[in-house]
Amino acid sequence: MQNILITGACGQLGSELTTELRNIYGSDHVIASDISEPNLLIADGPFEYLDVLDRPRIEEIIEKYNIGIIYHLAAVLSATAEKNISQAWKLNMDGLLKVLDTSKEKKLDRVFWPSSIAVFGPDAKKERTPQSSACNPTTVYGISKLAGEQWCSYFYRKFGVDVRSLRYPGLIGYKSHPGGGTTDYAVDIYHKAIKGEVFDCFLKKDTALPMMYMSDAVKATINLMQAPAERITIRTSYNISGFSFSPKDITASIRSMIPEFEIQYNPDHRQAIAESWPHSIDDSPARTDWGWKPEYNLQSMTEEIIKNLPVFWNMETA
Ligand code: SER
Repeated sequence: MQNILITGACGQLGSELTTELRNIYGSDHVIASDISEPNLLIADGPFEYLDVLDRPRIEEIIEKYNIGIIYHLAAVLSATAEKNISQAWKLNMDGLLKVLDTSKEKKLDRVFWPSSIAVFGPDAKKERTPQSSACNPTTVYGISKLAGEQWCSYFYRKFGVDVRSLRYPGLIGYKSHPGGGTTDYAVDIYHKAIKGEVFDCFLKKDTALPMMYMSDAVKATINLMQAPAERITIRTSYNISGFSFSPKDITASIRSMIPEFEIQYNPDHRQAIAESWPHSIDDSPARTDWGWKPEYNLQSMTEEIIKNLPVFWNMETA
Protein backbone atom coordinates (compact mmCIF):
# COMPACT_ATOMS: atom_id res chain seq x y z
CA MET A 1 0.00 0.00 0.00
CA GLN A 2 1.14 3.52 -0.75
CA ASN A 3 1.28 5.73 2.31
CA ILE A 4 0.15 9.24 3.20
CA LEU A 5 2.36 12.17 4.22
CA ILE A 6 0.94 15.21 6.03
CA THR A 7 3.00 18.39 6.26
CA GLY A 8 2.14 20.88 9.00
CA ALA A 9 0.66 17.97 10.97
CA CYS A 10 1.04 19.75 14.31
CA GLY A 11 -1.22 22.59 13.16
CA GLN A 12 -4.89 23.10 13.92
CA LEU A 13 -6.20 21.17 10.89
CA GLY A 14 -3.19 18.85 10.59
CA SER A 15 -3.63 17.37 14.06
CA GLU A 16 -7.26 16.41 13.55
CA LEU A 17 -6.82 15.31 9.93
CA THR A 18 -3.91 13.06 10.91
CA THR A 19 -6.05 11.43 13.61
CA GLU A 20 -8.92 10.75 11.22
CA LEU A 21 -6.71 9.48 8.38
CA ARG A 22 -5.05 7.10 10.86
CA ASN A 23 -8.48 5.85 11.94
CA ILE A 24 -9.30 5.09 8.32
CA TYR A 25 -5.99 3.81 6.92
CA GLY A 26 -4.13 2.68 10.07
CA SER A 27 -1.50 4.59 12.05
CA ASP A 28 1.49 3.09 10.25
CA HIS A 29 0.24 4.31 6.88
CA VAL A 30 -0.09 7.99 7.82
CA ILE A 31 3.18 9.86 8.35
CA ALA A 32 2.88 13.13 10.24
CA SER A 33 5.54 15.79 9.68
CA ASP A 34 6.22 19.28 10.98
CA ILE A 35 8.96 21.56 12.29
CA SER A 36 7.36 21.37 15.78
CA GLU A 37 7.39 18.48 18.23
CA PRO A 38 4.43 16.09 17.75
CA ASN A 39 1.47 16.92 20.01
CA LEU A 40 -0.70 14.48 21.94
CA LEU A 41 -3.15 13.94 19.07
CA ILE A 42 -0.56 12.74 16.59
CA ALA A 43 1.87 11.02 18.97
CA ASP A 44 0.55 7.52 18.18
CA GLY A 45 2.14 7.05 14.76
CA PRO A 46 5.17 7.79 12.59
CA PHE A 47 6.51 11.34 12.73
CA GLU A 48 9.29 13.05 10.77
CA TYR A 49 10.84 16.47 11.19
CA LEU A 50 10.20 18.25 7.88
CA ASP A 51 10.81 21.82 6.79
CA VAL A 52 8.86 21.95 3.50
CA LEU A 53 11.42 24.33 2.03
CA ASP A 54 13.94 21.48 2.17
CA ARG A 55 13.21 19.61 -1.04
CA PRO A 56 15.79 16.80 -0.64
CA ARG A 57 14.19 16.02 2.74
CA ILE A 58 10.70 15.85 1.13
CA GLU A 59 12.11 13.37 -1.40
CA GLU A 60 13.86 11.35 1.30
CA ILE A 61 10.61 10.95 3.27
CA ILE A 62 8.63 10.04 0.13
CA GLU A 63 11.13 7.27 -0.61
CA LYS A 64 11.53 6.06 2.96
CA TYR A 65 7.78 5.54 3.45
CA ASN A 66 6.62 4.83 -0.12
CA ILE A 67 4.40 7.91 -0.06
CA GLY A 68 1.61 8.10 -2.68
CA ILE A 69 -0.50 10.94 -1.29
CA ILE A 70 0.51 14.25 0.31
CA TYR A 71 -1.68 16.58 2.33
CA HIS A 72 0.45 19.72 2.22
CA LEU A 73 -0.84 21.88 5.07
CA ALA A 74 2.25 23.77 6.28
CA ALA A 75 1.53 27.50 5.86
CA VAL A 76 1.47 30.90 7.54
CA LEU A 77 -2.07 32.18 8.27
CA SER A 78 -3.57 35.60 7.52
CA ALA A 79 -2.76 37.74 10.57
CA THR A 80 0.80 36.42 10.96
CA ALA A 81 1.44 36.84 7.23
CA GLU A 82 0.73 40.59 7.43
CA LYS A 83 3.49 40.87 10.06
CA ASN A 84 6.14 39.06 8.03
CA ILE A 85 5.37 39.38 4.35
CA SER A 86 8.47 37.76 2.88
CA GLN A 87 8.54 34.81 5.27
CA ALA A 88 4.83 34.13 4.61
CA TRP A 89 5.28 34.34 0.86
CA LYS A 90 8.31 32.05 0.95
CA LEU A 91 6.70 29.36 3.06
CA ASN A 92 3.28 29.51 1.38
CA MET A 93 4.57 29.69 -2.21
CA ASP A 94 7.97 27.98 -2.30
CA GLY A 95 6.66 25.25 -0.01
CA LEU A 96 3.77 24.54 -2.38
CA LEU A 97 5.96 24.65 -5.50
CA LYS A 98 8.44 22.22 -3.98
CA VAL A 99 5.65 19.81 -3.04
CA LEU A 100 3.99 20.09 -6.47
CA ASP A 101 7.23 19.64 -8.37
CA THR A 102 8.33 16.71 -6.20
CA SER A 103 4.89 15.13 -6.67
CA LYS A 104 5.30 15.46 -10.42
CA GLU A 105 8.82 13.97 -10.39
CA LYS A 106 7.90 11.11 -8.05
CA LYS A 107 4.59 10.52 -9.87
CA LEU A 108 2.51 10.66 -6.70
CA ASP A 109 -1.14 9.60 -6.88
CA ARG A 110 -2.71 12.67 -5.31
CA VAL A 111 -1.98 15.93 -3.51
CA PHE A 112 -4.20 18.03 -1.25
CA TRP A 113 -3.54 21.72 -0.66
CA PRO A 114 -5.68 24.11 1.40
CA SER A 115 -6.83 27.41 -0.05
CA SER A 116 -9.04 29.89 1.79
CA ILE A 117 -11.92 32.35 1.63
CA ALA A 118 -9.05 34.87 1.76
CA VAL A 119 -8.72 34.61 -2.05
CA PHE A 120 -11.73 36.92 -2.19
CA GLY A 121 -11.20 40.64 -1.67
CA PRO A 122 -13.45 43.60 -0.94
CA ASP A 123 -14.98 43.64 -4.42
CA ALA A 124 -16.25 40.04 -4.30
CA LYS A 125 -19.95 39.53 -3.69
CA LYS A 126 -20.31 39.56 0.12
CA GLU A 127 -23.30 37.27 0.58
CA ARG A 128 -23.23 33.71 -0.73
CA THR A 129 -20.04 34.52 -2.64
CA PRO A 130 -20.05 32.34 -5.78
CA GLN A 131 -17.16 30.12 -6.85
CA SER A 132 -16.30 32.51 -9.68
CA SER A 133 -16.68 35.83 -7.84
CA ALA A 134 -13.90 38.41 -8.33
CA CYS A 135 -10.68 37.34 -6.59
CA ASN A 136 -8.71 40.49 -5.79
CA PRO A 137 -7.33 39.80 -2.32
CA THR A 138 -5.86 42.62 -0.23
CA THR A 139 -3.86 40.43 2.18
CA VAL A 140 -0.51 38.69 1.66
CA TYR A 141 -2.14 35.46 2.75
CA GLY A 142 -4.93 35.90 0.19
CA ILE A 143 -2.46 36.70 -2.58
CA SER A 144 -0.44 33.59 -1.73
CA LYS A 145 -3.58 31.42 -1.72
CA LEU A 146 -4.79 32.83 -5.04
CA ALA A 147 -1.38 32.28 -6.67
CA GLY A 148 -1.27 28.80 -5.11
CA GLU A 149 -4.63 27.91 -6.65
CA GLN A 150 -3.29 28.87 -10.06
CA TRP A 151 -0.16 26.77 -9.52
CA CYS A 152 -2.31 23.77 -8.60
CA SER A 153 -4.37 24.22 -11.73
CA TYR A 154 -1.17 24.62 -13.81
CA PHE A 155 0.45 21.44 -12.46
CA TYR A 156 -2.77 19.54 -13.12
CA ARG A 157 -3.17 20.81 -16.71
CA LYS A 158 0.45 20.70 -17.73
CA PHE A 159 1.79 17.66 -15.86
CA GLY A 160 -1.31 15.73 -14.79
CA VAL A 161 -0.58 16.11 -11.06
CA ASP A 162 -3.88 15.17 -9.38
CA VAL A 163 -3.92 18.06 -6.93
CA ARG A 164 -7.19 18.96 -5.18
CA SER A 165 -8.06 21.90 -2.99
CA LEU A 166 -10.70 23.53 -0.78
CA ARG A 167 -11.20 27.20 0.08
CA TYR A 168 -11.65 26.72 3.81
CA PRO A 169 -13.60 29.20 5.87
CA GLY A 170 -12.54 29.78 9.52
CA LEU A 171 -12.09 26.34 11.10
CA ILE A 172 -13.26 25.81 14.66
CA GLY A 173 -12.37 22.86 16.83
CA TYR A 174 -11.54 22.21 20.46
CA LYS A 175 -8.74 19.62 20.18
CA SER A 176 -6.13 21.82 18.50
CA HIS A 177 -5.21 25.49 18.48
CA PRO A 178 -5.17 27.76 15.46
CA GLY A 179 -2.11 29.94 14.98
CA GLY A 180 -2.16 33.40 13.51
CA GLY A 181 -5.51 33.50 11.71
CA THR A 182 -8.22 36.17 11.67
CA THR A 183 -10.90 33.63 12.57
CA ASP A 184 -8.98 32.31 15.63
CA TYR A 185 -11.17 34.32 18.00
CA ALA A 186 -13.97 31.82 17.44
CA VAL A 187 -11.82 29.07 19.00
CA ASP A 188 -10.38 31.14 21.87
CA ILE A 189 -13.84 32.38 22.88
CA TYR A 190 -14.89 28.86 24.00
CA HIS A 191 -11.78 28.43 26.13
CA LYS A 192 -12.46 31.71 27.96
CA ALA A 193 -16.20 31.02 28.32
CA ILE A 194 -15.60 27.62 29.91
CA LYS A 195 -12.97 29.02 32.28
CA GLY A 196 -15.45 31.73 33.35
CA GLU A 197 -13.26 34.53 32.02
CA VAL A 198 -14.26 37.66 30.09
CA PHE A 199 -13.37 37.35 26.39
CA ASP A 200 -11.54 40.23 24.73
CA CYS A 201 -12.57 40.12 21.05
CA PHE A 202 -10.31 41.57 18.35
CA LEU A 203 -13.20 41.90 15.85
CA LYS A 204 -16.27 44.16 16.03
CA LYS A 205 -19.44 42.50 17.23
CA ASP A 206 -21.26 42.51 13.87
CA THR A 207 -18.40 41.18 11.71
CA ALA A 208 -19.87 38.06 10.08
CA LEU A 209 -17.46 35.52 8.55
CA PRO A 210 -17.85 32.06 6.98
CA MET A 211 -16.92 29.33 9.47
CA MET A 212 -16.93 25.53 9.76
CA TYR A 213 -16.73 22.98 12.55
CA MET A 214 -13.52 20.94 12.39
CA SER A 215 -15.17 17.55 11.94
CA ASP A 216 -16.98 18.88 8.87
CA ALA A 217 -13.69 20.27 7.53
CA VAL A 218 -11.96 16.92 8.02
CA LYS A 219 -14.88 15.11 6.39
CA ALA A 220 -14.87 17.49 3.40
CA THR A 221 -11.14 17.06 2.92
CA ILE A 222 -11.26 13.27 2.97
CA ASN A 223 -14.38 13.14 0.75
CA LEU A 224 -12.71 15.36 -1.82
CA MET A 225 -9.57 13.23 -1.79
CA GLN A 226 -11.54 9.97 -2.09
CA ALA A 227 -13.71 11.21 -4.97
CA PRO A 228 -13.03 9.69 -8.42
CA ALA A 229 -10.90 12.08 -10.50
CA GLU A 230 -13.66 12.57 -13.08
CA ARG A 231 -15.89 14.15 -10.38
CA ILE A 232 -13.37 16.95 -9.80
CA THR A 233 -14.28 19.72 -12.24
CA ILE A 234 -12.52 22.55 -10.37
CA ARG A 235 -8.74 22.33 -10.30
CA THR A 236 -8.06 25.69 -8.68
CA SER A 237 -9.96 25.25 -5.39
CA TYR A 238 -13.56 24.54 -4.34
CA ASN A 239 -15.69 27.00 -2.38
CA ILE A 240 -16.87 25.21 0.74
CA SER A 241 -19.29 26.42 3.36
CA GLY A 242 -20.46 25.48 6.83
CA PHE A 243 -22.29 28.41 8.40
CA SER A 244 -21.65 32.10 9.09
CA PHE A 245 -21.70 34.10 12.28
CA SER A 246 -20.44 37.28 13.94
CA PRO A 247 -18.91 37.62 17.44
CA LYS A 248 -22.37 38.72 18.61
CA ASP A 249 -23.96 35.51 17.25
CA ILE A 250 -21.40 33.16 18.81
CA THR A 251 -21.77 35.00 22.12
CA ALA A 252 -25.53 34.41 22.06
CA SER A 253 -24.93 30.75 21.26
CA ILE A 254 -22.48 30.36 24.18
CA ARG A 255 -24.86 32.21 26.53
CA SER A 256 -27.57 29.67 25.75
CA MET A 257 -25.36 27.27 27.75
CA ILE A 258 -23.27 29.63 29.92
CA PRO A 259 -25.62 32.60 30.61
CA GLU A 260 -23.05 34.56 32.66
CA PHE A 261 -20.49 34.64 29.79
CA GLU A 262 -19.12 38.15 29.12
CA ILE A 263 -17.40 39.60 26.03
CA GLN A 264 -15.75 42.95 25.37
CA TYR A 265 -14.71 44.36 22.00
CA ASN A 266 -11.28 45.78 21.17
CA PRO A 267 -10.90 45.55 17.38
CA ASP A 268 -7.30 45.56 16.10
CA HIS A 269 -5.55 45.23 12.71
CA ARG A 270 -7.42 41.97 12.07
CA GLN A 271 -10.70 43.88 11.67
CA ALA A 272 -9.54 45.19 8.26
CA ILE A 273 -8.64 41.66 7.14
CA ALA A 274 -12.06 40.36 8.21
CA GLU A 275 -13.85 43.23 6.44
CA SER A 276 -12.14 42.34 3.17
CA TRP A 277 -13.57 38.79 3.24
CA PRO A 278 -17.04 37.43 2.32
CA HIS A 279 -19.84 37.09 4.89
CA SER A 280 -21.03 33.77 3.51
CA ILE A 281 -20.12 31.35 0.72
CA ASP A 282 -22.03 29.59 -2.06
CA ASP A 283 -20.57 26.09 -2.36
CA SER A 284 -22.88 24.67 -5.04
CA PRO A 285 -20.11 23.10 -7.19
CA ALA A 286 -18.74 21.10 -4.22
CA ARG A 287 -22.26 19.85 -3.46
CA THR A 288 -22.94 18.89 -7.09
CA ASP A 289 -19.53 17.43 -7.99
CA TRP A 290 -18.70 15.25 -4.99
CA GLY A 291 -21.71 15.44 -2.70
CA TRP A 292 -20.53 17.92 -0.05
CA LYS A 293 -22.97 18.61 2.81
CA PRO A 294 -22.03 19.96 6.25
CA GLU A 295 -23.50 18.40 9.40
CA TYR A 296 -23.03 21.14 11.98
CA ASN A 297 -24.54 24.56 12.56
CA LEU A 298 -23.48 27.19 15.11
CA GLN A 299 -25.62 25.83 17.93
CA SER A 300 -24.74 22.14 17.49
CA MET A 301 -21.06 23.11 17.32
CA THR A 302 -21.32 25.17 20.52
CA GLU A 303 -23.02 22.34 22.37
CA GLU A 304 -20.41 19.82 21.29
CA ILE A 305 -17.46 22.05 22.16
CA ILE A 306 -18.79 23.12 25.56
CA LYS A 307 -19.53 19.50 26.46
CA ASN A 308 -16.18 18.10 25.27
CA LEU A 309 -13.54 20.76 25.83
CA PRO A 310 -13.24 20.23 29.62
CA VAL A 311 -12.97 16.45 29.05
CA PHE A 312 -10.21 17.09 26.53
CA TRP A 313 -8.32 19.35 28.97
CA ASN A 314 -8.40 16.51 31.53
CA MET A 315 -6.97 14.08 28.97
CA GLU A 316 -4.20 16.51 28.11
CA THR A 317 -3.12 16.88 31.72
CA ALA A 318 -3.60 13.19 32.65
N1 SER B 1 -8.70 30.86 9.16
C1 SER B 1 -7.85 31.51 8.19
C2 SER B 1 -7.28 32.76 8.72
O1 SER B 1 -7.97 33.41 9.49
C3 SER B 1 -8.64 31.78 6.94
O2 SER B 1 -8.25 30.93 5.94
O3 SER B 1 -6.22 33.11 8.36
